[in-house]
Amino acid sequence: MKYFFTTLKDLNEKKYIIKFIEEVRDELICFVNKNNQIKIFSSICPHFGGELFYDNKINALRCKWHDWKFCSTNGKCLSYPIKGKLNPYDFEVIPKKLNKYKSHIDNNDIYIYLNGHE
Ligand code: FES
Repeated sequence: MKYFFTTLKDLNEKKYIIKFIEEVRDELICFVNKNNQIKIFSSICPHFGGELFYDNKINALRCKWHDWKFCSTNGKCLSYPIKGKLNPYDFEVIPKKLNKYKSHIDNNDIYIYLNGHE
């Protein structure tokens, strides 16, 4: 199933967008990392449930509570060698495919795929 998450226009205006998605009972963060890739991860910190935000100065997700940092590419914890990592989510940008994303695209919608199904 796919669900509308945000638009590229909104994402370009803000550094990141956080939304609770009822269907997965998870709060997700969508951002554009330094490699110009759009990423969506769970925004709930695996340490103690704090809220994550995207810090573009260090190109990593950071927790507001105890400042743990997470890789903006694969969601792995950068602060401690914990096994857990952030849940990643599949998505696509319509009408352009993600790998053709350039900074000129605007006003397009970003959809998230849940459970890997269209
Ligand atoms: S809850 Fe996130 S670092 Fe502690």
